[in-house]
Amino acid sequence: MKKAMKFVVALGLVAIMGVSVIGCGGNGGNDAVDTTEVVDNDDANVEETGETDDGADVATGDQTVGVSMPTQDLQRWNQDGANVQEQLQEAGFNVDLQFANNDVGTQVNQIENMIAAGVDVLVIASIDGGALGTVLGQAKDAGIPVIAYDRLIMGTDAVSYYTTFDNYGVGQVQGQFIADALNLANEDGPFNIELFTGDPGDNNAHLFFNGALGILQPFIDDGTLVVQSGQTTFEQAATADWSPENAQNRMEAIIASHYADGTVLHAVLCSNDSTAQGVIQALRTNYTLPAGADWPVITGQDCDIANVPLILEGYQSMSIFKDTRALASAAVEMVQAILSGGTVPVNDTEQYDNGVIVVPTYLLGVESVTIDNWVEWLIDTEYYTWDQLGVNESDWR
Ligand code: BGC
Repeated sequence: MKKAMKFVVALGLVAIMGVSVIGCGGNGGNDAVDTTEVVDNDDANVEETGETDDGADVATGDQTVGVSMPTQDLQRWNQDGANVQEQLQEAGFNVDLQFANNDVGTQVNQIENMIAAGVDVLVIASIDGGALGTVLGQAKDAGIPVIAYDRLIMGTDAVSYYTTFDNYGVGQVQGQFIADALNLANEDGPFNIELFTGDPGDNNAHLFFNGALGILQPFIDDGTLVVQSGQTTFEQAATADWSPENAQNRMEAIIASHYADGTVLHAVLCSNDSTAQGVIQALRTNYTLPAGADWPVITGQDCDIANVPLILEGYQSMSIFKDTRALASAAVEMVQAILSGGTVPVNDTEQYDNGVIVVPTYLLGVESVTIDNWVEWLIDTEYYTWDQLGVNESDWR
């Protein structure tokens, strides 16, 4: 039933640079910040680059890249911060890496400081994509190019490029997974489903939700799927800060009101692994699986270290693997091209309209990961080690 669906939407391949195995939360902190030597903005776009043995551009000057990440609370951003920092440093750049504690004001201040220090390029994963217009206006005035990282920055013409995964495609894979797992095309149901997505300020959350609902909405409309809670809009399904605790609290309230009387819950759409963690925690402690019922189909995204055991134990049905090493590589290639006056790699110049401009984008593909193929994607690609996951190789090979 749960056949592994390989869904490759890569529109081009980004070479994965040599990156050591990624650790869980805690690495890639606020260390290794070097803002002491910065390049005059006037020189920012004409700094000379050298060549490595493999022909890649390496910065030869004292160029600094400001990297602004949303939070260290979620594994995703520690990992991305570490990857981007490491790959930029390998390419010869100084890096000013900051995490903003999921606080918009902090992120704005950090970016202001980077601008004042004269960074040559900004790479920003925004907390609230619509809240950076003013500060990015300052970046534009200072001639500093801005790369939106993973999350689109909205409502400004000061964002130069964007690199991300196919976010709408992520939602489609999640929705299709549920449709296949419940055999919605052939079964009348009704099947009960609840919907959990991410932070409203994150443009990606809207894309994930819309992608999934693009698949699931027809089944809701014809009654094959029923949302017992009635919470079907994006706003109702949203999870502030993508926080596991917020998802857990909402799931507990839904269980108490709609599934405490033996009603079967067949599926929960979770837009990512942190929301899935909260939902699974709520279900494990508050939902009594009715006799004969299967554990609900539960989706996720990111293949977080904490979620791999949940997949292996059957609590979470799938996750989406997004190789964050490749995203870091894409961002670094953009930085190199911008600063050397080269052609910036993009493969989508239509989809990512931020309300003011269509931002030239480099999109990467995603993979659906299940208990059937996780070794191939998470171990064989050296994304994680067996030790990191606390899993015995001999149990799975
Ligand atoms: C990212 C997801 C992540 C979520 C919460 C989104 O913008 O694309 O990979 O799970 O933020 O950090």
